Amino acid sequence: MILPIFAFGQPVLKKKALDIDADYPDLSSLIANMYETMYHAHGVGLAAPQIGLSIRLFVMDTMQVMEEGEKEKGIKKAFINPEKIEETGEIKPYEEGCLSIPQIRGDVDRPEIIHIKYLDEQFVEHIETYEGLNARVIQHEYDHIEGLLFIEKLKPLKKQLIKRKLDAIRKGQVEVDYRMKFVG
Ligand code: NI
Repeated sequence: MILPIFAFGQPVLKKKALDIDADYPDLSSLIANMYETMYHAHGVGLAAPQIGLSIRLFVMDTMQVMEEGEKEKGIKKAFINPEKIEETGEIKPYEEGCLSIPQIRGDVDRPEIIHIKYLDEQFVEHIETYEGLNARVIQHEYDHIEGLLFIEKLKPLKKQLIKRKLDAIRKGQVEVDYRMKFVG
């Protein structure tokens, strides 16, 4: 089932989300719905706050954007109760966007490598290291469950430039080809 994506301005996007436990109701259908919603909107990642749930869960699929022959470098995975252990490597800029903030993109500086602990869909714990695009998507989605949006990490000048566009999004004055839930 495709769920509406909560737009910039929705308070849930600014909340620090909470851990869930193994008896969270209908978790497997929730995860399936999140994938469906993400693919429908042509995204590579989607975090639970973006569908209105303040829980520590996100899904991602970078296999769909890897070059032919390099699909195995991508990951398709749900992260439950993730905890960032460490970020290392060089800090690099990369242009990000977000399904909750349509039509806005901007360079965000982040370390290249992330070490992360999380539970899979069977609630088995994993500690893994990711780099490149995989790390980038994990960092962006992880920020969502911390109540942080990529636009807060843009350079001051860029923040100025997108101010009006953000106001328009908050009010629902934006063209988008997937279902969204606006505050205004
Ligand atoms: Ni996002």
